[in-house]
Amino acid sequence: MKQEQGQSHAQARRPAPGRPPIAAALAATAALGLGLVATAAQAESRLERGRYLVESIAGCGNCHTPQGPNGPLLGQALAGGLVIEDPMFSAVSANITPDPDTGIGRWSDAQIARAIREGRRPDGSLIGPPMPFDLYRDIADSDVAAIVAYLRAVPPVKNRVAKSVYRMPLPPTWGPPVGRVAEVSSADPVAWGRYLAGPLGHCIECHSRPGPQGGPDFAGGLGAGGYVFTGPWGRSVAPNITPTNLKRYSDAQLAAIITTGVRPDGSCLRPPMAVSYYAKMKPADVSALVAYLRTLPPR
Ligand code: HEC
Ligand code: HEC
Repeated sequence: MKQEQGQSHAQARRPAPGRPPIAAALAATAALGLGLVATAAQAESRLERGRYLVESIAGCGNCHTPQGPNGPLLGQALAGGLVIEDPMFSAVSANITPDPDTGIGRWSDAQIARAIREGRRPDGSLIGPPMPFDLYRDIADSDVAAIVAYLRAVPPVKNRVAKSVYRMPLPPTWGPPVGRVAEVSSADPVAWGRYLAGPLGHCIECHSRPGPQGGPDFAGGLGAGGYVFTGPWGRSVAPNITPTNLKRYSDAQLAAIITTGVRPDGSCLRPPMAVSYYAKMKPADVSALVAYLRTLPPR
């Protein structure tokens, strides 16, 4: 049982609860004089990168922050408890703040990264849908490390959430263990946009045609739309985001739709389209997304 051994090893390395790793890193490098400057800057940029990813394109809070009638609950960021209803499940999102008792404060960095990319908890149990593990397994090592750094730095919130109910058998695994995942270069806007729309932002998870097993059919229906979402907003259907539908918008219009949630005709995009998160994206990232959407095979 290789995996079991890996876990206990990781468990032994977990940091003392309540000691922020950034502070620990600074303390550890303080003795190194000049080294402090570079290392502190690196730690800070990793944290900043993580903040940017979680709060914009990845939009983890779209599922992990509980919502009231007026949107996300104040002081409850990433504290879980949002219930996602589907014919196959009533999934309750987890508390992913560093609270040691009700969140992930006792998990090591490697354990959190594994939960995100492989969908497995430190105790070996599988995390259920709809978290998009098929895409998250391709998040680059540097980006998953940045996400983990940010999750460790958010305010811990004590919030014990109910258990998810799955009315179907979960697979034994979401795939083989994730090895090293290299960074995607942002120099090629289309390749960068594909990474943003897939592994980082899971746009294509919501916007592809539902396949026979319930999951998205990336092979035959990439970007074709069709998932139905019901909630306090009523009923919304993910539209086709291939050129068949989007050719009616200019690049500037498309960028505005994604980041403001308002179409040129004045109509507004309803949840779960994560507009409040995409509003915080860098213009270059929005342009890359648009460039990629233009290259999708028309459906
Ligand atoms: C589409 C909704 C959705 C999105 C997006 C999502 N999650 Fe989740 N996540 C869930 C649900 C639901 C669970 C609990 C599933 C279960 O009970 O098995 C979960 C579980 C987890 C867990 C396991 C925690 C535990 O205590 O078991 C971690 C860690 C996690 N998510 C991190 C993230 C991060 C980081 C992101 C953003 C990069 C993210 N999630 C995006 C829905 C989502
Ligand atoms: C959690 C599911 C979900 C995710 C993730 C998501 N969307 Fe959406 N999106 C929707 C839904 C649902 C609608 C329709 C809302 C409505 O009709 O009120 C929508 C609408 C749109 C529209 C409007 C299309 C039209 O016909 O006017 C565009 C463009 C779009 N999304 C692009 C994206 C991009 C790009 C991303 C990733 C950065 C993304 N979406 C992520 C669910 C999602």
